[in-house]
Amino acid sequence: MAKLAINGGTPVRDPKDLFPAYNPIGKEEEDAAVRVIRSGALSKFIGAWDEKDPAFFGGPEVRAFESEWAKKFGVKHAVSMNSATSGLVAALGAIGLEPGDEVIVTPYSMCISATAPLFYGAVPVFADVEPEYFCLDPQSVEAAVTERTKAILVVDLFGQSHDADAINAIAKKHNLKVVADSAQIPSGMYKGRYAGTLSDIGVFSLNFHKHIHTGEGSVVVTDDDALAERLQLIRNHAEAVVEDKGVTNIVNMVGHNFRFTEVAAAMAREQLKKLDGLVDERLKNIAYINERCADMPGFRPANARPDTKHVYYMHAFLYDEAQTGVPRDRFFKALMAELAPSKGQEEEGVLMGQGYVKPIYWLAIFQQQIAFGSKGFPFKSEFYKGVARYEKGICPVAERLHEKEMVTHDMMRPGMTKKDLDDVIGAFHKVYENRAELA
Ligand SMILES: Cc1ncc(COP(=O)(O)O)c(C=O)c1O
Repeated sequence: MAKLAINGGTPVRDPKDLFPAYNPIGKEEEDAAVRVIRSGALSKFIGAWDEKDPAFFGGPEVRAFESEWAKKFGVKHAVSMNSATSGLVAALGAIGLEPGDEVIVTPYSMCISATAPLFYGAVPVFADVEPEYFCLDPQSVEAAVTERTKAILVVDLFGQSHDADAINAIAKKHNLKVVADSAQIPSGMYKGRYAGTLSDIGVFSLNFHKHIHTGEGSVVVTDDDALAERLQLIRNHAEAVVEDKGVTNIVNMVGHNFRFTEVAAAMAREQLKKLDGLVDERLKNIAYINERCADMPGFRPANARPDTKHVYYMHAFLYDEAQTGVPRDRFFKALMAELAPSKGQEEEGVLMGQGYVKPIYWLAIFQQQIAFGSKGFPFKSEFYKGVARYEKGICPVAERLHEKEMVTHDMMRPGMTKKDLDDVIGAFHKVYENRAELA
């Protein structure tokens, strides 16, 4: 048996033999960016209303990109923004969130998926996630509903849709809005419909790490005309625009500059054309890895939710120490020692992680209940009639995934050759088969 690299053996992959970079940006994006740069009009937004000039809605590239995105995803409105973070903040403003409202959120995601309600003085209430699919667990969501609940902020984690039928049924029963953080799932599906389009509002990210990207950016989608208008207003200096535009509902019409640039939009139009091909390549790689990693009890690829198209922003493995006989941390370090970093991301080391993120309520902002100002707003305020609870243990599944079960990797991205994939699979098998060395 081969000696593990962590114990001085030869690694499956020489650490200097870097895996390929993931770079979906090509000549098409370059030409598009140059075209806009040469025009000199890098943004055409104006934060004022003029009936005869569409500049409040952005320049020609922004507007063309939005209509192409809306067409592709079959939605009425697509509103581009400069990040999914701003998109989520705008979405929660658009639905009319108020100080003292509660929003049910997931603990297992990027932090803005849970902190966005705070920007309107609303209080995040954490529900637990599903042990196999890692999205909000409908039963836990139902149990978290109170008379203060205004909305559910769901996340399509790792490129897999949340259980939209179940979540939407809870929302309907209690008259709640649903905002989907679909940052990680461009073109994933739930029962034949695009994830991100199944809620009142969906938010996609175009940041550097996503399937398609423009460095930073996002697209916020909705079928609701009024919500679309409110999103556009929050994106672009609402308070200066509402009166001239004839908008009478001025709740949360405190605007920002969340605008997407013409250069980014021109590149995004090219990226959108590549999305399906990039996702297909990812899925082919996943199928290859999953087929060859089905025989390691205690270390297995997580199942995909039936009747969905998972687009694998990350590939999750579930680890069970009781079956392998080795603590996850030791197994994980041995895996890392067998592989190499990826080009352009050398400083990040091997693109593999254990635990994903800390449950969000473990962050100081929740543990100390200090967000805006020093007096505990909005957790402790005259508006909030509930009791905010963020103690350890409130979401046992998310905590278990973080502390014991979750292993993720990125080494299925387009550009990986068969040899690259074989090295990754080889490392998984080598460590698994030699795990007695680690016990
Ligand atoms: C689930 C999720 N939500 C929101 C975001 C925020 O996206 P952005 O970087 O575009 O603000 C991310 C970014 O990684 C994310 O993964």
